Amino acid sequence: MGIVGHVLTEGNLMKVTVDPDRCQGHAQCWEICPEVFGLDEEGHSVVLVGEVPAGLEAKASRAAGNCPERAITVD
Ligand code: F3S
Repeated sequence: MGIVGHVLTEGNLMKVTVDPDRCQGHAQCWEICPEVFGLDEEGHSVVLVGEVPAGLEAKASRAAGNCPERAITVD
């Protein structure tokens, strides 16, 4: 039996970015997925992680889709 190696899933990693010029602080992103989105002292969204942790992709996408300003990009 072969060694089950560490499977790299680089191609599947999801990244999210927030456009600070668009973000108006609606905080939907944070309410839906606080594991990935935080709020700065002005209430604007900050992305807390370099890559969306496994299992949170759906939540992160939903957060992006619910931003009224369409400030969140999912790659
Ligand atoms: Fe900003 Fe949209 Fe979140 S406006 S705080 S990125 S829901």
